Amino acid sequence: MKKIYLYGNWKMNMTVAETKKFFEDFAPVYAQFKNDSGLEVGVFAPFTSLWAAAEGAKANGVVFGAENIYFEPKGAFTGEVSIPMVKETGATHVILGHSERRHIFGESDELVAKKTKAALDAGLIPVFCYGETLDERESGHTFDVMTRQLDAILKILSPDEIRKVIYAYEPVWAIGTGKSATSEQAQEVCEWSRKLIKDPNVVILYGGSVKGSNAKELLSMKDIDGALVGGASLKPASFIEIYAEYKK
Ligand code: PGA
Repeated sequence: MKKIYLYGNWKMNMTVAETKKFFEDFAPVYAQFKNDSGLEVGVFAPFTSLWAAAEGAKANGVVFGAENIYFEPKGAFTGEVSIPMVKETGATHVILGHSERRHIFGESDELVAKKTKAALDAGLIPVFCYGETLDERESGHTFDVMTRQLDAILKILSPDEIRKVIYAYEPVWAIGTGKSATSEQAQEVCEWSRKLIKDPNVVILYGGSVKGSNAKELLSMKDIDGALVGGASLKPASFIEIYAEYKK
């Protein structure tokens, strides 16, 4: 039986008070799976809520991380947050290259690659996101785009580092739209990614409108090791329901 990674990306949601409330509600919902070694739960919180997330994650035995970092350790980078600042909270993971960072904030493949390398150098596990837009898919460029995004990191990382990265295939057209990729579409890309990465054991998640109702078919696919969940991760019940449905 494969291990399932259920990671929640809170995006720009969850104040400190809301984070505390989340974990209060989370404990009873998660209780039934707390000792399930086939599940790893993680939450990714905004910077200001990281300390509160640290407390809640520790109390519940789940992992937590940030949603971004800057690659320089310190200095004149107004508004940025460094890896040491994030690590100080106890965070072990960081989401990098999310499509909202790439498309709304203009992060390039090179910048995402620098951040990925810096995170690995500092011992943070990157959750590296990649995926195509609807235009790119419809014009037949899905695999060119993803080759470009993945190559940017594969060409600068050692095989050992490549193995430590958690990959998250997130088609941009499926994020926050309610319209998930079909399990066949997601499987096709995850299988293809595994071949491109040339390591059969890397962890590859699918993200984009994952919820209880589509969890079983998506997570049952051979090359999908888990889900990166946005909307449905904001409430413990809808978040944990994803794993409960998979197990049914
Ligand atoms: P969604 O977001 O589940 O709300 O589609 C996923 C993500 O952006 O990671």
